[in-house]
Amino acid sequence: MAEAASGTKVLVDVLVSPIGELATPDIESGCARGAQMGDVRKVKNAAVAIKDGKIVFAGPKDEVLKKVDADQADVIDASNQLVTPGLVDPHTHIIFGGNRHNEFAMRCQGKTYKEIAEQGGGIVASMRGTRDATQDELTRLGRQRLERMLQHGTTSCEVKTGYGLDRKSELSMLDAILSLDETQPVELTPTFLPAHAVPPGVKREVYVNEVVEDMLPAALALLTKRGVPASRLYVDVFCDEGYFTLEDTKRIFEKARELGMKLKVHSDEFASLGATSLACAMHAHSADHLLAVTEDDIGRLSKSDCVAVLLPGTSFFLNLSQHAPARTMIEKGVAVALGSDFNPGSCHIFSLPFIMGLACLKLKMTADEALTAMTINAAHAIGRGESIGQLRSGYQADMVLWNVSTLAEIPYNMGWNPVSKVLKKGALV
Ligand code: NIG
Ligand code: FE
Repeated sequence: MAEAASGTKVLVDVLVSPIGELATPDIESGCARGAQMGDVRKVKNAAVAIKDGKIVFAGPKDEVLKKVDADQADVIDASNQLVTPGLVDPHTHIIFGGNRHNEFAMRCQGKTYKEIAEQGGGIVASMRGTRDATQDELTRLGRQRLERMLQHGTTSCEVKTGYGLDRKSELSMLDAILSLDETQPVELTPTFLPAHAVPPGVKREVYVNEVVEDMLPAALALLTKRGVPASRLYVDVFCDEGYFTLEDTKRIFEKARELGMKLKVHSDEFASLGATSLACAMHAHSADHLLAVTEDDIGRLSKSDCVAVLLPGTSFFLNLSQHAPARTMIEKGVAVALGSDFNPGSCHIFSLPFIMGLACLKLKMTADEALTAMTINAAHAIGRGESIGQLRSGYQADMVLWNVSTLAEIPYNMGWNPVSKVLKKGALV
């Protein structure tokens, strides 16, 4: 909270006012669950006052103006616009070389993800494209994708490695993510995912040993060299049929925890192998995908702090009729978040406004629940829920100004980008 005051008023440096309608989750602490997810605070004729990149007051314009001295402030006019928190994407794979448009065409002709992977496509195809690219090239491509995401309202984003599948290329991906975090406005949460697929010609057991004994310690050494604490890094595993087993996941998680890293998991995308239960037991911050989640695991999630990150773009892009059971999860009190899963194969969609449309249509979520899921709950899925994800005093001033008058118009406008302006830490970007 700002200390500098003139009289009894708080001196602020940015004032967003007037705002047509402010829409934000407003949660005292922790994730939004159950009915709270749909209980978005909405204020017409609002204002947000900002000092040093943080929100001082957010609420009805008359009340905010009574409390602040904005004589020297930059004023941003959002009349007739909707203003929300900056969107948080808790699951992406934006660093890769090459592309897989051929696989999209094959799926349009009826081939499944599994069939395409068995024919040499899938993650391994992107591994080749990524290994062929230099780190500079990967960084340039990542920056271009982040610019586009920012234009669509994403102000914070988790980014995974996972297309290198050997020590050198995985570290090069991680290094690219860490340097992008320092050189462009979207704040990044790095995730190390060497266990995304088994590289061709290597036995699964041998590769898992390499991940545990060699790659995780090497990731720690890279963090240390760059002055990044181990606790900033997530470690993820694709636990599914044809990828990694529950035992593999447990071994990798135990090593990651021993090194001081945090956990998340690709779980129950195609088959349920028990990774969701493991994630709850080992205090992972999120379990992601969950199309095949069991009723028992929904019960476990509802009693844990593990966030369920749902990725409706993936089921849509894979042309599946099955979707994650979002309604049951919300009704049972699971903390549900939404992400894009942007990647070269199973979901080449980065737009969270579009994902909001899919969440409403396919997961039967309301627009209010979807906003909560891609702001405060997504922030908790990447360990940032105490500083980003809502417009509330003390929170970082990450905001989106939209060319619509009310929240429900965002999913309704699928395919058009309604973002007008984006603020990161109080500054227009
Ligand atoms: O989240 N499920 C595992 N990984 C990605 C797919 C990556 C790819 O096909 O390149 C996903 O859907
Ligand atoms: Fe993924």
